[in-house]
Amino acid sequence: MHLSLSPAAAFESRIASRQARVGIIGMGYVGLPLTLLFSEQGFRVTGFDVDTSKVEQLNAGGSYIVRIAAEEIAKARTAGFRATGAYAEIAEMDAIIICVPTPLDEYHQPDLSYIEQTARAIAPNLREGQLVILESTTYPGTTEEVLIPILESGNRLGLKAIRSAGASSQQHSDAGQPEPGFYVAFSPEREDPGNETVARRDIPKVIGGVEPTATALASALYGTIFNRTVPVSTPAAAEMTKLLENIYRCVNIALVNELKQLCERMGIDIFEVIDAAKTKPFGYQAFYPGPGLGGHCIPIDPFYLSWKAKQFDFRTRFIELAGEVNTGMPYYVIDRTAEALNGRKKCLNGSQVLVLGLAYKRDIDDLRESPSLTIIELLRKAGAEVAYNDPFFPTVGRGRHYDLNMSCTPLDNLAQYDAVLIVTDHTSYDYRRIVAESQLVIDARNATKGIAAANIVHC
Ligand SMILES: NC(=O)c1ccc[n+]([C@@H]2O[C@H](COP(=O)([O-])OP(=O)(O)OC[C@H]3O[C@@H](n4cnc5c(N)ncnc54)[C@H](O)[C@@H]3O)[C@@H](O)[C@H]2O)c1
Repeated sequence: MHLSLSPAAAFESRIASRQARVGIIGMGYVGLPLTLLFSEQGFRVTGFDVDTSKVEQLNAGGSYIVRIAAEEIAKARTAGFRATGAYAEIAEMDAIIICVPTPLDEYHQPDLSYIEQTARAIAPNLREGQLVILESTTYPGTTEEVLIPILESGNRLGLKAIRSAGASSQQHSDAGQPEPGFYVAFSPEREDPGNETVARRDIPKVIGGVEPTATALASALYGTIFNRTVPVSTPAAAEMTKLLENIYRCVNIALVNELKQLCERMGIDIFEVIDAAKTKPFGYQAFYPGPGLGGHCIPIDPFYLSWKAKQFDFRTRFIELAGEVNTGMPYYVIDRTAEALNGRKKCLNGSQVLVLGLAYKRDIDDLRESPSLTIIELLRKAGAEVAYNDPFFPTVGRGRHYDLNMSCTPLDNLAQYDAVLIVTDHTSYDYRRIVAESQLVIDARNATKGIAAANIVHC
């Protein structure tokens, strides 16, 4: 029956009947949940990762992400999910979704090496009519300027990305000969880890294909797991959409971080002000100050755009200013801690400080770019003796920017510390007890809201 369908229509039909094989590359915070969503909808998913320990854990029905229960992996395994490191299996897939890291290098420039390596590994295994979707956050132009050239130059069959509209996987060469091709789209991940208020399915999926058939196929695929898809005209528009969203957050967080510092000088409670402002039913969205930005997105993604903007002789001043304010926040926390100790005739040098919370935000097991790590390093540099507690991290060792080598301290005998510093406001902490038992509490998250005590210093 499929014989009478065009290749694209046959692809859509395989999506509708769940026969389409989905390969997801990168079994991390983005790729693994996506895998589970497709698996729940009846697709046989293959997860690709270069980390053999992840592949082994997944194939044994285990999970390494706290908010994903091992039972969910086991259920997906029963539904046909398996993980592999063997890129040759790419050839068996209909759709290939790339969810690999896009960090900054030490000079704050985009590090696209993971995307490049992935593209080089996919290329020799590509076959005609496959759909390749990039989900990793990146600057506008990456899909067409970086991903596609590697896929085209590295594949054995001479396949080209399909660039002109038409429901066919064959396009025509200059000489008028049909050329086999593959479809390409960019579709940004918009997950907010730990946010229980919006179901993943209800987050609309933005999709920008290289041409309309790629957009339509990607929409059909994502339409099985998301309630709404939002097509845009090009991959670059989809890449820019994701950056706009993250830059919007970054700039607004910088704004409240700056205003928090002013409010403190003026004796005004910024959190009270934000709560009052957010009662306005239009034109205002609440953002909250904190000890600095963390995570894989907000501290990093905006710089992808500032880097790309330079190619166009353009300076993204909002991004740079927001970066300056937000990067300064851990230093501000240290200054406030030193001031508070000074008020008690103590100095940071030699003080015992307990840092509460290592994760970059509440109730998640993700350390990436966490301001806690910077704060611990700065405290140590100033001569403080630092301990930490975080229910998600029994130990912390060496990361890209730090080498802490510490173990989690139990939350007892709090009075021994000169200061207890709340950097991450995990909900499992009993803040009343912490305030009652500590000499001095420095609260960088407003976690002690509603507790009246003279030993709390907000920062
Ligand atoms: N974590 C989030 O909340 C979030 C939200 C939105 C967007 N993003 C973006 O999604 C992308 C992925 O982020 P993440 O948080 O899932 O990262 P992650 O580090 O949790 O996972 C990435 C995975 O890719 C694997 N990997 C690296 N190179 C590979 C290769 N060549 N082949 C196969 N696997 C490879 C790693 O081993 C790892 O398991 C990034 O671009 C990030 O900016 C993340």
